[in-house]
Amino acid sequence: MATFDIRAAFADKEWLEEISCKLARKMAYGIKKARQVSFMPYTTQNGQWKETRIGGWTNGFWPASMWQMYLMTGDASFRAEALRAEAMLDDALKDFKNLSHDVGFMWLIHSGVRYHLEHNQDSFDRTLYAADMLACRYNPNGFLRAWNQVERAGWAIVDCMMNLPILYWASRQTADPRYKLMAMNHADTTIKYFIRPDGSCNHIVIFDPENGEYMDNPGGQGCQSGSSWSRGQSWALYGFVLSYILSGKAEYLDAAKRVANYFIDQCCDDWLPRCDFRQPEGENVLDNAAGNIAACGLIELARQLPQVEGKRYFDAALCILKAQEADAANWAEDDPAIFTKCTTAYHDLKGRHITMTYADYFFIEAVNKLRGEELLFWDP
Ligand code: GLY
Repeated sequence: MATFDIRAAFADKEWLEEISCKLARKMAYGIKKARQVSFMPYTTQNGQWKETRIGGWTNGFWPASMWQMYLMTGDASFRAEALRAEAMLDDALKDFKNLSHDVGFMWLIHSGVRYHLEHNQDSFDRTLYAADMLACRYNPNGFLRAWNQVERAGWAIVDCMMNLPILYWASRQTADPRYKLMAMNHADTTIKYFIRPDGSCNHIVIFDPENGEYMDNPGGQGCQSGSSWSRGQSWALYGFVLSYILSGKAEYLDAAKRVANYFIDQCCDDWLPRCDFRQPEGENVLDNAAGNIAACGLIELARQLPQVEGKRYFDAALCILKAQEADAANWAEDDPAIFTKCTTAYHDLKGRHITMTYADYFFIEAVNKLRGEELLFWDP
């Protein structure tokens, strides 16, 4: 059966061209500002990139944005900046004991992409090393350990669904199925313990690291235990679509649809996802990152489905992208970041409505998908 065809479905070429031009200008300005500092861009303050440490989970999104822009424009300055940032990240690889499960975010979408495009051996080595670091975190009870604190040996988080693609990548590169099997076992555990019957998700689940027994699901970056942190839902949505693409296992497509249906229901009044879909009535704490991540997931989900079914998800993605762009995008050259209403965590009051490179990254990824770019950065 023919699956949903983005190019045939997408009619608003004028919007796309206008946004692409704005992106090219704004991201060139972002590079100019990034070259004035010696750290990896993540968020901004008073119109400048704000200092961040190397080794943070967001580090890969700046070079990944550069590769997306390079593919969009062909402008070599984006490639040069991607390479500069990739080299900067080697300090994080050297400090391997402080890496978390987030190594997929940190290397697959730029080093993995560079290896795909240019067959650079150093980029291959970085990506495989990162995959091995994630494989080391596998608990044979069927989950990947999220964080390093000794008392958190049994903690897993829903965000990890987006780190699984580096394991599938490693299996393909090495012809060793173990990485992929770890990824699938973790995805199966996520379906069982994270996805609720209504399609909403837990952020954190704690297992007994000795025997894998479920112990607890404390509140994470959302309001509280049992609430619905929107970025967690978006990680699950896109993560399950990717696991379906990379494994072919039908349960993952089903999980992605359940999470997607829930996500769409929760934000379709104005298409501006709140930070937590269960935050107190009337509170307007938004998270543009959740929206842009979900939009990418919805577009890829649409592509896996027949025309009529796929269109519903594709249309929802467009609604989110356009609503967030109209509400919160800053295209002026007074700040190098674009999206202004991203939120780190519901209870982090200083982290409400800030800028984040990954909100911008997922917007650029979505725009490139609409332009017909075929390279999926999560499967380079
Ligand atoms: N992966 C951490 C976050 O989404 O904030």
